[in-house]
Amino acid sequence: MNVVSTKVLVLHGPNLNLLGERETGIYGQVTLADIDSQLSALAADLDAELQIHQSNHEGELVDLIHQARTWADAIVINPGAFTHYSIALHDALRAVALPVVEVHLSNIHAREEFRHRSVIAPVALGQLSGFGPDSYLLGLRAALEAVKRSRAAHP
Ligand code: DQA
Repeated sequence: MNVVSTKVLVLHGPNLNLLGERETGIYGQVTLADIDSQLSALAADLDAELQIHQSNHEGELVDLIHQARTWADAIVINPGAFTHYSIALHDALRAVALPVVEVHLSNIHAREEFRHRSVIAPVALGQLSGFGPDSYLLGLRAALEAVKRSRAAHP
């Protein structure tokens, strides 16, 4: 029997390219390349195919979300600061209607009040926040489980 691999778009938003040097007290020493290689290793174990992109530009993230509709089964996104105000990302995620998992390295609910609100959360299946790089790994697992459940429900 052929195992159908699950395709997941992983998006990193603004400033996440500076992980490892940026506010290490909050975000730790881990670099984005480290996170991407942990994600790729987990994806290989779980028979998933990933496309991973980082962008500091809202419009580029919108374009990548649009492109995902012809390819991806799910999206894992750390929208960075766009989490808190980007209606454009909210609308793009709603438009493509793929299962979305929102992830954050830090616990946004334990930080400044302006970070408590996510405009992405209403279009996500759920949010993993505060587990450092594990937020991404748990987020990928959650996305893959969601796709599996929906395939079982609509074979
Ligand atoms: C972040 C939290 C956001 O509030 C912040 O703007 C980021 C990173 C996180 O991963 O903890 O850039 O999304």
